[in-house]
Amino acid sequence: MRHSAQAAVFAAAIAGFGAAETRAQGVTVSISCGAVGAELELCREGAEAWAAETGNRVSIVSTPNSTTERLALYQQLLASGARDIDVFQIDVIWPGILGRHFIDLAPHSDGAEDAHFEAIIENNTVDGELKAMPWYTDAGVLYYRADLLEAHGFEPPTTWAEMAEAAAAIMAAEREAGNNGMWGFVFQGRAYEGLTCNALEWIDSFGGGTIVDADGEITVNNPAAVEAIATAATWIDTISPRGVLNYAEEEARGVFQSGNAVFMRNWPYAWSLAQSDDSPIRGKVGVVALPMGGEDGQHTGTLGGWQLAVSRYSANPEVAADLVMYLTSYEEQKRRAIQASYNPTIAALYEDAEVLDAVPFFGDLYATFTSAVARPSRVTGENYNRVSSAFWNAVHRTLSGQQEAGASLAALEGELQGIRRRGW
Ligand code: GLC
Repeated sequence: MRHSAQAAVFAAAIAGFGAAETRAQGVTVSISCGAVGAELELCREGAEAWAAETGNRVSIVSTPNSTTERLALYQQLLASGARDIDVFQIDVIWPGILGRHFIDLAPHSDGAEDAHFEAIIENNTVDGELKAMPWYTDAGVLYYRADLLEAHGFEPPTTWAEMAEAAAAIMAAEREAGNNGMWGFVFQGRAYEGLTCNALEWIDSFGGGTIVDADGEITVNNPAAVEAIATAATWIDTISPRGVLNYAEEEARGVFQSGNAVFMRNWPYAWSLAQSDDSPIRGKVGVVALPMGGEDGQHTGTLGGWQLAVSRYSANPEVAADLVMYLTSYEEQKRRAIQASYNPTIAALYEDAEVLDAVPFFGDLYATFTSAVARPSRVTGENYNRVSSAFWNAVHRTLSGQQEAGASLAALEGELQGIRRRGW
């Protein structure tokens, strides 16, 4: 395949064709897509539209839902120089960990990156090379059952204490009325990257910093952070089921979407699924910024999101890059926003009437998305996953009642010092 693709490039070049013609080479490009919610289907539709337009073929590779498991799979594939996947869907926290395996996309972009949020482009730039194009961005938000809040006389909460109070009261009243499956709050409490995102939000909302600060200093062992994690621990077995300690995104959505939770922390993708025709909670859901940690705290959301990168080991990097540019374009991002509430990374789309009509909170919560708190992946570079896993394990110990928040964050500080000694 490699040989024939090169031959095709060569043939096109000597015939003096322009860029559009060199795209149509009849090769197969494989792309790894996430499968959370409607993601896989959306990816397939987009990639197939590109294939039809260019005369190439696509092969869609589905990957594990957990970003932590996905990273392990990618590391294995890329470390062995595998050619199975040409285009990798990568998390916003991975350019530093995986960047060396990807080509520089700048020569293929025709300046398209200028339309995207600058901070994400900067995040995707490693050693001066554009390692990935932004596909969609994310930030944690609070979903609530507007019908239940109204029926029980509550406003959407602005602090975690208000959230917990409303959750407990509504849960008790609903159970009293015979809805025994009702819970107050579901979130991502499994020991994986999603818990890092949730716990960073709790800490930042209390003004407790970002685990490791922008200068590489370990800041996580501080009173505000301890208070934040201790507060979250009080939710388990009261407003949150113990099972939340093993929930990722889709488990939380499953409980909320079936009508069994008052509040849910999740990413924006859950919106269009909650609003779909067969959803029991269609028309009953509101979305606000995550609560503040007390009156002195702040609203926040962890920055998430996914990019597309081309493997260095691809036999068809030019064609693969063309697919990446197609999928990350304005039109595709618009389609994905309207159909499945994936946040565009192109600022202009937040002013598009059709997009705002489909997902009103893209407008209302614009500041949440543009000033989301970043995980310390850039400063810790290749060590980020070790840092994050030490953090989510420390938080999980406290949520599951094994260790008090203070002791757990003190132990974490020691662990992080050990990781830092290897250099970040
Ligand atoms: C979402 C975010 C991603 C994050 C993951 C954690 O997929 O987009 O950045 O790492 O959730 O579960």
